[in-house]
Parts: sequence; C-alpha cells; structure tokens
Amino acid sequence: MKYLLSLSICLLLITVSAAQQGPRRVIDFDKGWRFRLGDAASWKEKEWNDVSWRPLDLPHDWSIEGRFDSTHPAGNAGGALPGGVGWYRKTFTLDKVTAKNKVRIEFDGVYRNAEVWVNGQYLGKWPYGYTSFDYDLTPYLRLGKQKNVIAVRVDNSRQPNSRWYTGSGIYRSTRLVITEKIAFERWGTFVYTTRGDKRQMVFHATSVVLNPAASKSKLKVTCTLSDPSGKKIAVIDGTPEAAGRFRFKTVLKDPVLWSVAAPQLYKAVFKIVDGSRQTDQWATSFGVRYFAFDAQKGFSLNGVPMKIKGVCMHHDLGALGAAFNRSAARRQLRIMQEMGVNAIRTAHNPPDPQFLDLCDEMGFLVMDESFDMWAKKKNKYDYYSDFPGWSRRDLEHMVKRDRNHPSVFMWSIGNEIREQFDSTGITLAKELVGIVKALDTTRPVTCALSENRPEKNFIYQSKALDVVGLNYHIEAYEDFPKNYPGEKFIATENVSGLATRGRYDGPADSLRLWPSSSKFKFVENGNPDYTVSAYDNVAAYWGSTHEQTWRIIKKHDYLSGLFVWSGFDFLGEPVPYPYPARSSYYGIVDLAGFPKDVYYMYQSEWASKPVLHIAPHWNPAKGDGTGWEAGQPVDVKVYYSKADEAELFLNGRSLGTRKKADTAFHVLWRVPYVPGELKVISRKNGKAVLEQVVRTTGAPARIVLEIENPVLQLERDDRAFVSIRILDEDGNLVPDARNEVHVANTAAAAVVAMDNGYQADLMPFQIPRRRVYNGLGLAIIKGLKKGTAVITVTSPGLKPASIQVLVK
Ligand code: GAL
Repeated sequence: MKYLLSLSICLLLITVSAAQQGPRRVIDFDKGWRFRLGDAASWKEKEWNDVSWRPLDLPHDWSIEGRFDSTHPAGNAGGALPGGVGWYRKTFTLDKVTAKNKVRIEFDGVYRNAEVWVNGQYLGKWPYGYTSFDYDLTPYLRLGKQKNVIAVRVDNSRQPNSRWYTGSGIYRSTRLVITEKIAFERWGTFVYTTRGDKRQMVFHATSVVLNPAASKSKLKVTCTLSDPSGKKIAVIDGTPEAAGRFRFKTVLKDPVLWSVAAPQLYKAVFKIVDGSRQTDQWATSFGVRYFAFDAQKGFSLNGVPMKIKGVCMHHDLGALGAAFNRSAARRQLRIMQEMGVNAIRTAHNPPDPQFLDLCDEMGFLVMDESFDMWAKKKNKYDYYSDFPGWSRRDLEHMVKRDRNHPSVFMWSIGNEIREQFDSTGITLAKELVGIVKALDTTRPVTCALSENRPEKNFIYQSKALDVVGLNYHIEAYEDFPKNYPGEKFIATENVSGLATRGRYDGPADSLRLWPSSSKFKFVENGNPDYTVSAYDNVAAYWGSTHEQTWRIIKKHDYLSGLFVWSGFDFLGEPVPYPYPARSSYYGIVDLAGFPKDVYYMYQSEWASKPVLHIAPHWNPAKGDGTGWEAGQPVDVKVYYSKADEAELFLNGRSLGTRKKADTAFHVLWRVPYVPGELKVISRKNGKAVLEQVVRTTGAPARIVLEIENPVLQLERDDRAFVSIRILDEDGNLVPDARNEVHVANTAAAAVVAMDNGYQADLMPFQIPRRRVYNGLGLAIIKGLKKGTAVITVTSPGLKPASIQVLVK
C-alpha cells in the first residue's frame, strides 16, 4: 500500500465548471477522492473531517493492495485477498451550474453493495457489483462556491460471495452529467440497423426525451449520421410517438459494414431543439452489420460464414486487480487478437463499458453475460439473495447500457445456473428472456447450460432461448442435431485445460485430469511447486484438452463456435491446487500476459500469419522439476501452419520430417535428451517457411527489456508494460531463470505493479521487486507527470537494462 500511497495525487477540492461546450456537460469525476477502510455511520455526514483519509483517484480496488493470506474469507477461490468495508468521499463545488440544471452522478461499477450519500442525504444502495447505475443529485446540491460532499460506502465483507476474484471498491469510472431539464434519458436512445433491399441497410433509432411537457413550443429531435470517414451523410427528423418518444429511420445505401476484420464505426448525434434553442446533444458510435445463426450452417457475419473463435474472460486485469484501466484491457485484447480470437464472452457478468468500446474499435464480437447465479446460490453470500429484488433492474441496465455496441451480438442470461435442474428454470428463463426482449429484439439470447441432456435441462425446456449454449461435454456435440432438432448451437464454454507457462511433464500425448473426479477438490499427486504441465495434457475432469475441443468444433458447420475457458489466467479459482495457489491455471496466456505454448496452437489454426513453435525448452534438470536428465526421453511438440511439414534437428542431425495427421494440430518427436541445439524448420512445397531454434542455455547473464505503450497520456491514465527477459551470454532466453529483479524509475513515471505469471507467487504485486518466473517478468508503469522517465531493471550478478517512457 505504501507504494501506491506515494503515487496518489492530493486534490482536496474539485471545482466542476463548464469545461465543455453545449448544454450537456459530462465531467470526469474520478480524480480527488479520499478513501478509508473500516466503517462508521458518521462518515456519510457532510461535515465529517476526512483530511487524514488516503487521497486517491478512481478506479480503485482495495483488495489487490492487500496481502495474500489463506485466512481471508474469500478463500483462494477468491484470490486469497481481503474484502471488508471501505468508504470513499469527494468534496466538490459546482460553480457554473444553475437551478435550471439536472445533475446526475454515474457509477460504471462498484463491488459491491454501494451506498451513496450526497451532503448527508441517502440516495440508495446498489447490491450487484457489476451493474452501472446513477443517481439524481439535483435536489440536494449546493451551487456556486458552496461545498458538496459525496460519500460512498462499499461493503464486500460478507464472503465468500464469488467463485473468482472480484476486487473491492469503486473499481470503475464515475462522472457527473449536467443537463437541462429537457434532455435525453440515460440509455434511452437505441440505435440499430436491419437489412434492406439489395445492398442496402436500414438505420433505426428510438429515443426518449425527459420532461417534454416543460417545453413551451413543439420539441424537435434530430439525428445526424456520419460515416466512418467522418462525412456527414444524413440528418433525420425524429417522428414523435408517445410523449417524449421519437423514432428515426433512414436507408443507408452501400454502407461500410462493421466486421471483426474491419471494425468500421459510424456516428449518430442526437439533438433536442425547443423552439429555437438546443437543450441537449448526445452522441453514440454504431456499426452497420448483420449476422445469423443457422441450425445447419452455423454462424455468419454480414453473410459470410464465420466460426466463432472465442475466449471467456473475467474482468480482472491481473496484477492491477479489478480496477479498470483502458490500456491494460487493450493489451489483453491485443494479445487475444494476435492469437486469432474474434469473440469474447464476458464471464459471468457485464464488463466495464469501456471494454465494449475497445471491442467495437478493435473488432471483437461479445457475448454479454448477466449472472453466475439466479435465486439458488453457489456461495453463501453471493448474489442469490439479491436476485429476487434486483435481477430485473440489473438485466435491464445491462441491455440498455450495451445495446448500441456493434460488438455485442448475444445476450446470456446466466452461467451454469442451478435452476436448470428443476422446473423453476422454466419460469425464470422465460421471465429473464422477456426482460431482454422488451429492450432489444435484434440479438439472440442464450444461457450457458452445463446439463447437456435436453430432457433434464429445464432452462432449455423453457424454449425461451434463441441459441442453445452448452458448457463442456464435447462428447455431446456430435449428436447435437439429433438431440436438439432444429436448434442453433454455441459452445458457451469449454476446455478448462490447465497449465503453468514453461513447465513440462510428459508424456505430452497423455491426458491428466486434475482433479480426477468430483470426489476430489484438489489434485492428489500434483507437483510440489504448484505447477501444471503446459503440453496441453492436463485438464479439470469436467474439461478436455484444447486440441480435442477445437477438433470437434472445427469438424461440423452446425457448431457455430466456442468460447475457450479461458483467454487469460485470472485471479482466484486456482484449480487444481489449494493455497498458496491463488490465481487460475486455465489461461491460454498467463496472468502477466505471456503466452503459454497452446497459444501457438490456436494461432496456427485461427490467425493468418505462418506459425512455427517448439516446446519444451532444452535445459538440463536442476532438481526442481524443470529440465531433463541425460538420456531421458523428452517429447518435442511443434505447432506449425502455412506449411506442409516440419523437420526437427538435434545438434545438426535430422530427427525426421513429420506432417500433421488430418485431424491433428501438432507434430511430436520423442527425443532422448542430449544438451545442445534443437532446430525445427517448416516447409511448404519443399521450401523453408520458418525456422526456430531452442538451445541449452548458459547461466543468466543479462536483462533485456521490451516495452508496450511507451508513450503515456496522463489524461487517460495510461499504463506501459515492460517485459523483462533474462538472457545468457549468447542472448538465449534462460527458460528456467528465477532471478530476483528490482525495478527503479525516475520521477515522471512509477512502477505500479509487477508480475511473473506464476500462480503460487505470494509476493504482493505492488512491490517493485520480484523473481522472474521461467525467464520472464513484467513491470507495469504509470505516468506521474509530463516528461521522460527511465525505468531501470537490475538483478545481482546480471547486466542491468533501462528503457524510456515518455509521459505526455
Ligand atoms: C465452469 C464455470 C467457470 C469456471 C470453469 C472452471 O464450469 O462456468 O466459471 O468455474 O468451470 O473450469
């Protein structure tokens, strides 16, 4: 916590003034809060003196700042980090706001049980930690130079309330929205497109205007459209319907379609004119696209068949915890996109709204999911008890907030919901689907079902789902058309393969189920260092290997696609181990963002660039479970693409050429271990495509750094990501290096977190010193003030390295 403290900017009083033009002002409200752990009724009072509280900026997650400990009530499933109660306060004035204005405060997400007061006046409570909500502050505000105080109590003390790490606090952004009384309702404008004749698409929008009766003349509402190049293409007058409701429609001739390969965004700007005066303006981007699920042909986007190559993602950002950061989310998506991923499932809750902006811009489809449980619990204190009173509001907020995003193509009303096993599933599924359809009929609704026998699944029997979502049980996919006649399919979740980056336990063509059955909570004879082999030869007993799963999905057109569990390792749910394991093993990529080997299997199948990847490393045994004894048979697994075959050489001697069998995604050699050099060459029509070499390395000798996002915008609170690699004298990555590295920074930027991807490392992420794991480490950098910062990484006995960050 100490390190973060020193970074915080102390802003006691924030003055909100007319920074923006026009009648609507949207004011970033993330800066200048004060925070305190603990609880007291008086902390809501306007007069409470909070000067001794910690100054900080939002988004903020206090759990990630804590120590890992097996006694924290969230358990290691919750990341072994603390929960508790915390308070946030912010003092501000409103110098350019008048009695004619309306002022709302918006919260993108608070985990959980947020209670909000303004000037001591209670505004309400929002239990669910993933929903965006807002309050009207207008009646309670003091204008001009008088101070206002917002106080927020966040209660994440009742644990366990989740099966994964949630974070605690105001972990997403906040803002003030100042409008006139006649203004657009929040989320009241819905924009969508449908197919018209020939190559045309039709633009539609509906819009709700608040307080239309306050107008003395006739209200006029217009919508101006611009195409992706920014050219204005239409101005549409809204047709008034019921009071305050307007409808817009126009034909878009030869539109530029939004797709995952070319995510082109149009813009719609809506204006309210009362007599001759504009009272509000609101804008959204949107995409022009169409898609379909077909019971035989699977999925298509804009008429082109497309397999959904998806991953499930929880909301945490690894070492940064749950506190949303746009550059960290962008990095996760970039890593997924380079692997060939075209779809994300937001497991098992609505994401940060900016995550959807990124998906719109970068080109991902998103399955937006609402709940992990309904009225039947999975954990003692989870959302089940809030579900009866809140599920309608939570679901409505999700759909209304997210329905203008072209990336969002499906709604999921839940994950592995226990009501699927009894008839209450029928009623509830119908009710929830009804709530979604009342707000959006342009997207299919699914539910992630783990009971794959149709006659036993009551949510399926509700017949309310547009697309049947199945989790796991890949053996059931072959008979899907027979067992679910006429139904459309999506594998909402599967695989649950387990791996630690850089760890290999042969044979590679075996399959270990860890744990082996429902009789066991943990693996019985796992590795003493809490690692799991990365050969794609370990999965949880309900799962399957990555290759088995992709093989069946690839085989049949009617299987529209899959969402692999999971894209990244995430905090919590460290199956198959107990504490000290504290983050998951499921990721194709580790918690720090370093790919595990199977990443290249997907890349070879899903992405367009040629791939050649060799596993394992070629270093001798050191007695800690890594490396090989002389003469030991070692499985060498190679992924390749855009080639016909691969040839392996050991110390210059060919070990033969192998071709992937029809349904295989790798080639394998079993090689008695001799130190030296393994080389693989992929060839097409006899010509070399790529070559890769893995050498037995010398001892760690030097550090090299690589930086992603070296130019940081202070305004956007960007992060830079510095990969730390430990090399030997000859420049080879030392694949079993565990050296401790220290990271220092000059004044313009600071290290806010470090990671190495090892699931059982109990060192807090905020400390700027850490052992690398299997040769790699990560330092995450935040800008503090404009200028150039030098980041220097040192380690005893190694040649250090430095890299520059520019803060703007
Ligand atoms: C699924 C569940 C996920 C995760 C996964 C781990 O059943 O939906 O949230 O727990 O198992 O294998």
